[in-house]
Order: sequence, then structure tokens, then C-alpha cells
Amino acid sequence: MNLLKAIEQRHSVRAYTDRPIEGETLSRLQKLVDNANKASGLHIQLVLNEPKAFDSKMAHYGKFSGVKNYIALIGKRGGDLDEKCGYYGENIVIGAQLLGLNTCWVALTYKKIDEALQIEKDEKLLMVIAVGYGVDNGKAHASKFYDEVASPKDAPRWFKEGVEAALLAPTAMNQQKFTFTLKGDKVLAKAKFGACSKTDLGIVKYHFEVGSGKDPDIWI
Ligand SMILES: Cc1cc2nc3c(=O)[nH]c(=O)nc-3n(C[C@H](O)[C@H](O)[C@H](O)COP(=O)(O)O)c2cc1C
Repeated sequence: MNLLKAIEQRHSVRAYTDRPIEGETLSRLQKLVDNANKASGLHIQLVLNEPKAFDSKMAHYGKFSGVKNYIALIGKRGGDLDEKCGYYGENIVIGAQLLGLNTCWVALTYKKIDEALQIEKDEKLLMVIAVGYGVDNGKAHASKFYDEVASPKDAPRWFKEGVEAALLAPTAMNQQKFTFTLKGDKVLAKAKFGACSKTDLGIVKYHFEVGSGKDPDIWI
């Protein structure tokens, strides 16, 4: 399976089985986290066998069950923390999908468990990503159309494929509040106003890069 296939097969999963993440899968998942931290300067942490974060009323209200493992997105406050966590977090999500794992981004319906995390004074926990073996593989979300999020209509194939991959991305409440505009041979990606829309922007930019086959220097 390649990255694009993983993007197509990924859906948010909120119910997990008891199967632990272990062996080769665990070491590869940890490597994805380590590589993301090295590239970004973030302090992302893989938390295993910690059921308390998803054991609250709020988590059940959010329809989560069996979540014992999660990826905590932590980094220095300010700057572009939200977008950076989106970009590198989704990098891990798609890597996890390739390892046969399921995931769900979670901004709201979890509890911060202090003793499970290492957060320095100048850092903050932005949100988490539940990870594990899902009860099922989830289902495709309703999506906006190309014309609603991208211009021009008549664009090169690589741009259209980038946008199509972005439309498959997870966004908070499936809001898809982003736009892609082709400007010469560069692309302007923008977040519209909305909850977590800066994190969403980082996520969809990663998808766009995979779909279009372009490097991060494609961005204006
Ligand atoms: C930044 C972000 C925050 C999210 N927060 C939550 C959340 O708090 N609770 C929840 O159940 N789902 C959450 N989600 C999952 C979205 O609801 C989901 O990605 C969206 O409905 C699209 O569905 P899909 O991921 O299956 O494609 C979040 C997703 C993103 C990207």
C-alpha cells in the first residue's frame, strides 16, 4: 500500500478493540513520532495503555470506546503550533494507517492526564489522536466539491489531484474550511475562520503534497 491508498482508506475510528500495539508495529509507530519531532521541533508523545483520557463522560458523549493509546500533540506555545501539529500529526496518521492501525483526531472529547505527559513550561498540549486497532475501519465522510475549495477550475492535473487528496482529509467537524489557489507554479493554501481550522490547514497541506507529488516548497 502506498501513501495515497492509505489516504483513501483512512477514516476516523472511535471504537477500538483490546488488541495492543506491540512488536514491529509499535517500533515503527514510535519511529514515525520520533521522525516528526526531529523534522518539526515538536514534542509529540505516544501514550500507551492509558485508558483514563477516554474514560470520562465527555469521551463517551463523543462516542469513543476502548481508547487506550493516543498521540499527544505537544509543542512550544505560539507561532505556527496549530498548523505544524496538523501537518506532522497527519504525517503520523497516514503512517499509522499503513501499519494497519486506525486513528481519530480529538480536540475536545478527552481528558488531559498530567502524569501521562511531559509538558515543559513553554509548551502546551494542543490535542490528541486516538490510535489502535479499530472495531471497524470507519466510513467515508460527506465532502465538498473541487469548485467549492479550489481555483481555477481549469488547473493542471497535479493540482487537481492534490485538492482531491485534501478533500479526503480529516477536518474538525468535517468542516473543510480551506481553500487552494494556483498562482503561477505555486499554491496558496488558506484556512477560513472556524474551530481548529489552522490545524486542519496543516492536515490538508500534507494531503495535498501526497496527492500532487509536490514538495513543501510548492507553498507561497
Ligand atoms: C483538528 C480535528 C479535531 C477533531 N476533533 C474531534 C473531536 O473532538 N471529537 C470527535 O469525535 N472527532 C473529532 N475529529 C474528527 C472529525 O470529526 C472527522 O475527521 C471528520 O468528521 C471527517 O471524518 P473522517 O475523519 O472519517 O474523514 C477531529 C478532526 C480534526 C481534524
